[in-house]
Amino acid sequence: MAVLNVNIDHVATIRQARRADEPDPVWAAVECELAGANGITVHLRQDRRHINDRDAEVLKRTVACKFNLEMCLAEPIVKIAERICPDQVTIVPERREELTTEGGLDSVGGLKRLTAVVKRMHRKGICVSAFITPDTEQILASAEAGCDAVELHTGAYSNARTDAQVERQLNELRDARDTARSAGLIVHAGHGLTYRNIGPVAAIEGLGEFNIGHSIVARAVLVGMRKATRDMIRLIDKYNTGPKA
Ligand code: PXP
Repeated sequence: MAVLNVNIDHVATIRQARRADEPDPVWAAVECELAGANGITVHLRQDRRHINDRDAEVLKRTVACKFNLEMCLAEPIVKIAERICPDQVTIVPERREELTTEGGLDSVGGLKRLTAVVKRMHRKGICVSAFITPDTEQILASAEAGCDAVELHTGAYSNARTDAQVERQLNELRDARDTARSAGLIVHAGHGLTYRNIGPVAAIEGLGEFNIGHSIVARAVLVGMRKATRDMIRLIDKYNTGPKA
């Protein structure tokens, strides 16, 4: 069975809209956990547009399930991860002008730096996942760098409109899963997943965890975080019937 990590960045986005102290993403994390989430994910961006250092620190001390910190390879952020010691870091590319993470990490081009950061994370006992497009070269480079897992970028799948496009993207994800598992990697997936499009991805056997943010927080505004999280877990469980990766 695949499991759900809820990305709560956008709870902090609402807080930052007023530079206020509510809603607190720490409260949201509690609600997600009470709903049965397997993990809490936040992206500590260099521009601190939503999650800030205090959030990451308090979440590390309060989250009882898995705490997954998304981060780029910039040195000041890597140092924070070494200090906070989340259960897992997911290495993502980051551009200041983007609305959300666009594209995957270039594990091929950045192999040297990625390898060095993976070593540093492992020294602290932190599991490392690389957020990459479902591309053989990127998967193999992530394995070469020593990553424990890859998170397959599902953005192209979520943007596919025709049945043929959707099927092509699902095939790419299945092929990438096979390549990654053969390379000894755990396989996660995320980005752009919603209550409407999660089914076929959740049905892919061998995916360990899904990182889902925008869609859950958007629903939570109307129905509450606990129900929104439960609704997504129910859908994942409905479609994902295989053993846990
Ligand atoms: N996975 C990664 C690596 C991400 O950067 C994001 C967005 O922060 C997500 C998953 C969640 O994407 P979404 O908000 O579209 O569900």
